[in-house]
Amino acid sequence: MNIAVLISGTGTNLKALIDAENRGEFKSKISLIIADRDAKGLIHGYNANIDSFVIKDDDKLLDKLRDYSIDFIVLAGYLKKVPEEIVNNYENRIINIHPSLLPKYGGKGFYGMAVHEAVFKNKEKLSGATVHYVNNKLDDGDIVLQRKVDISKAKSPYEIRDMVLEIEHKILKDAIKKIEEENL
Ligand code: GAR
Repeated sequence: MNIAVLISGTGTNLKALIDAENRGEFKSKISLIIADRDAKGLIHGYNANIDSFVIKDDDKLLDKLRDYSIDFIVLAGYLKKVPEEIVNNYENRIINIHPSLLPKYGGKGFYGMAVHEAVFKNKEKLSGATVHYVNNKLDDGDIVLQRKVDISKAKSPYEIRDMVLEIEHKILKDAIKKIEEENL
């Protein structure tokens, strides 16, 4: 698959994917990185010599994806809603990583630290990460992979974030591999 990775933040998931590709852990190629803002994580794209752009205007997204013949999109901490036009053009070809055990702690307002703060406040013993297909509803599509982590000893939402991120970095690349194998 010819992959575009979309980010908004620090891009640790993007970095994990670039490293996994370099180690040959999946066959696909990351050929485009797009951020919806001046995201810190763009540095990983520049360092790896992958074409990387900030695109704030949704109307310009589809053209860029087409310019690079992208056939699969990975949302790796992309915090903006993907325009319907793109979801409809890439049916079953967009996945998202979410830092909770969906359907718990998903939907409006649940992103990034807000998820971990709610999980911590509710004294959950387990959290985890989910990779799912993207449809036109928030955090709603079919689940590709989900993995749990014991957070009963975490003393802050930040500790939960770090535990969950470690899992995210594994299941995102595993999800790509799984989808490649399913489409052989
Ligand atoms: C990740 O924890 C990702 O799951 C989350 O944003 C973080 C981005 O971290 N995404 C969402 O909350 C989407 N609803 P990163 O920029 O270091 O990869």
